[in-house]
Amino acid sequence: MHSTLFVNASQVVTVAGPARARRGAEMRDAGILSGAAVAVTGDRIAAVGPQEELERDYPAAARVDCRRGVLTPGLVDSHTHAIFGRPRADEHELRAAGLGYMEIAARGGGIHASVRDLRARGEEELVALARGRLRRLASYGTTTVEVKSGYGLTVEDELKALRVIARLAAELPMRLVPTWLGAHEIPLEHRGSPAARAEYLRLLTGEMLPRVQAGGLARFADVFCEPGVFTVEETRTILTAARAHGLALKLHADELKPSGGAELAAELGAVSADHLAAISPGGIAALAASGTVATLLPGTMLFLGKGTQAPARALIDGGAAVALATDFNPGTSPTVNFPLILTLGVSELRMSAAEAVVAATVNGAAALALAGEAGQLAAGFSADLALFEIEDLRELPYWYGDRRCMGTWVRGLPCHPYGLSVT
Ligand code: NIG
Ligand code: FE
Repeated sequence: MHSTLFVNASQVVTVAGPARARRGAEMRDAGILSGAAVAVTGDRIAAVGPQEELERDYPAAARVDCRRGVLTPGLVDSHTHAIFGRPRADEHELRAAGLGYMEIAARGGGIHASVRDLRARGEEELVALARGRLRRLASYGTTTVEVKSGYGLTVEDELKALRVIARLAAELPMRLVPTWLGAHEIPLEHRGSPAARAEYLRLLTGEMLPRVQAGGLARFADVFCEPGVFTVEETRTILTAARAHGLALKLHADELKPSGGAELAAELGAVSADHLAAISPGGIAALAASGTVATLLPGTMLFLGKGTQAPARALIDGGAAVALATDFNPGTSPTVNFPLILTLGVSELRMSAAEAVVAATVNGAAALALAGEAGQLAAGFSADLALFEIEDLRELPYWYGDRRCMGTWVRGLPCHPYGLSVT
């Protein structure tokens, strides 16, 4: 089978180790090698080791000259809402003028604005919009992206969004992981009375979920569990039904106010609990004692102008597994720049560069139940790589806002090569 050798990297960041989320002090070790090369055969990493040895072992391999850059596992963005229509730049200004995120939602904006917009668009149009946005994500070093529905909120519109994800998963080189987020909001037409609200909950579990399952359109179910959106009890009902339909679980938990979302995630054995900017001490303890990954989204708090962040240090030092992700969405985090999220990880969450990279690779993969497949440069893993124009891993969060990615490969194939040639 055809092999390729990645040579002349100043560092190879392997993140090699157990195929599971790294917790607590384990997150400090990014497995950095100097003088190393990576051999790829077919869609797998065949070997990682001293360059001289690999040159001997793979004499016929094609070569990618890494030009003294840093080679890492392709970044794993485990939380995005990438299927949407128009940008919501209007709300950005409204918040600057003093209006809160929930106040904008109460006036029919926020998620509701994106719902009206997505419902009015056809599948082709949404595919075209999302294709461009996913390519932009890839151009910063991301090779695996979780993508949620959640701006449809009717059976047909949620299925439409999930079909868009499926079509792009088949078309694009990157790995896409689909999540059903029918419980992103109570749509406006179900907000008139408690009975109308109950009707939407019945629609979610009684109609939407069976159709999502029948179509094989999602791997995860997610709920926006937040005071004013879905209560802890409603979230428990929806996620318990989702689990019975074969989906693994995620939660938007304790994003703006603490409500016990993190505790619920741990209790349900969710794969991840996401946001957590308002997590309680009890929630931190619950996640630290569980197998649930704490996925932090510092771009969201930055863009909302909150001036606070999730307690990453308390989570890591308490022994939890922390992942980082973009939360790419039109309302609270319109960034495709994953390395910028690593910058926030260091500057605002007080993580080390190694912790941030572990959070964006192996722990991101674990947050998608893919820790055995992606997130490491180690023999047997999918050949998903990213090459950056830096000499030291710490420069990845350092050059903030810059696009240092020179190329990515997914399953051994070039995903986004920027001027790199294979010889
Ligand atoms: O992750 N919190 C809920 N969902 C998104 C925001 C969605 C939107 O405002 O469109 C989030 O922040
Ligand atoms: Fe989100």
